[in-house]
Amino acid sequence: MLKLPTWTSIEQHAVSAKNFQLVKLFEDDPARAETFRLHCAGLHLDFSKNLISEETQKLFCALGEEANILDSAQAMVVGELVNASEARAALHTLLRTPYGEQPEQLDSHALQVSNALKQVKSISDRLRSGDWRGHTGKEISDIVHIGIGGSYLGPSMVDEALTSEALSAETNSNINCHYVANVDGHHIHQMLAALNPDTTVIIVVSKSFTTMETMLNGKTAKKWLEDAMPLSALQHHLIAITSNVDAAQTYGALPQNILPMWDWVGGRYSVWSAVGLPIAIRYGFDQFNHLLEGAREMDKHFLESDLSKNMPFALAWLGLWYQQFFSVTTQAVIPYDHGLRNFSEHLQQLDMESNGKRVTATGEQVAWDTAPVVWGGEGSNGQHAYHQLLHQGTRAVAVDFILPMQPRHPLTEHHDQLVASCLSQSQALMVGRSRQQMPHLEPELAAQKEMPGNRPSNTITIDKMSAHSLGALIALYEHKVFCQAMLWQINPFDQWGVELGKELGDNIFDAIKGDSARGEAIEFDSSTQLLLRHYLELRAKT
Ligand code: F6P
Repeated sequence: MLKLPTWTSIEQHAVSAKNFQLVKLFEDDPARAETFRLHCAGLHLDFSKNLISEETQKLFCALGEEANILDSAQAMVVGELVNASEARAALHTLLRTPYGEQPEQLDSHALQVSNALKQVKSISDRLRSGDWRGHTGKEISDIVHIGIGGSYLGPSMVDEALTSEALSAETNSNINCHYVANVDGHHIHQMLAALNPDTTVIIVVSKSFTTMETMLNGKTAKKWLEDAMPLSALQHHLIAITSNVDAAQTYGALPQNILPMWDWVGGRYSVWSAVGLPIAIRYGFDQFNHLLEGAREMDKHFLESDLSKNMPFALAWLGLWYQQFFSVTTQAVIPYDHGLRNFSEHLQQLDMESNGKRVTATGEQVAWDTAPVVWGGEGSNGQHAYHQLLHQGTRAVAVDFILPMQPRHPLTEHHDQLVASCLSQSQALMVGRSRQQMPHLEPELAAQKEMPGNRPSNTITIDKMSAHSLGALIALYEHKVFCQAMLWQINPFDQWGVELGKELGDNIFDAIKGDSARGEAIEFDSSTQLLLRHYLELRAKT
């Protein structure tokens, strides 16, 4: 595989960079915090607390040029088949391009997007206004959104993130949105038990309309409706979002209540499409539009900014830098915002399903580690849990702190404490505490309390969380993942690695069901056999 020319220079530079001391870098350059700072759409990236110099940035920008990052991004947005292994385009950016501004060759795609948005608006308006009613004539009180992976993570995360936005806004509707993904029956069973079918609409979201979890949850939900109303009434309670229109119609959704998904938008990039319908239902179509506009602003920044001023590219090369030269293998994303408590779950799919690859786009073994293990959770909760490892563990972790500056509540003291907590963490990671600073302690105790410091982090501040800034934040990470894929020369848009587990799951399910045509013919390993036998014995007793 092609080793880009600048890579060798970066390797040489890394030898001396390993001796960088963050505190010293700041002492030597009072303007450092300004130098390593970027802005877009009310988001500010402070990447000054990293083990880098201007030379590091220069080298990575050269590498980015050699990797044709921005040309590849252009190829993506104009609809080239950048997902080569599936011969598909990856046009999530088109979903947030105002109609009329799309590249000429995408006119027909843009029309489909525009029509889908009209459908989202019309359905969400009708539900919010009470025009769409259940079969008994009552207004709809609850939505159950059934989907998994990208058909679930994006909309549920955005819904959570905007909840407190809606506390003060008139945009909030009285309709509750519930999300079910897992096939674990505990969830849907409990959820449906608390709802009234006469005032509930089920939205089944699946691009393929074959995904096992979604199909089974959809079937259970439909049965729950059928038990409460005549078959002819179901149409008032079913919506489907899919590219498999026939299957959705067979399921029972009326054609006008089937919204599109397309093979040119990956599931993990689909929140911008009709998959975001619950956002429009909960907060109004205008808020959904603000989400798209925020993402659009980040798209423009990404596509039009020089690599040295490019926020997604900065996050991308910093990730590579630590992974390749500092043995950092995990990426923590820690938002100090309760609404973003599940943001890292969305990023897990975005990053690990996109870049968890071991061969290049042309099928050669990659010569470097690819996607990091992404994890995280809301601050300040983590400070009383896993931050111990961040400060004193044996492995350094790449950390992105995310901090909205203005709260959406009136409790100033809470927000002051939250801000202080966030800023203190990146500071503590950087400065650490040496034994020399604790001369009064016995050496054994001083060793326990010593914190090495010199641990890097990024801080992304957001002026104020809103649908607009959230859209920009999500798009920021989408483009970061894309840049890393280009640097690693992998295809971020396929996900073949999830297939084998699905097939084997089908085999085991057949065996459980006693389907002799398939299940019994399959020889399982002895461990799987024993586990299965144990399950079947207990199943027979229940
Ligand atoms: O199994 C992985 C995956 O295909 C994801 O890429 C996707 O987001 C999810 O399953 C759900 O797929 P679908 O929308 O087709 O149900």
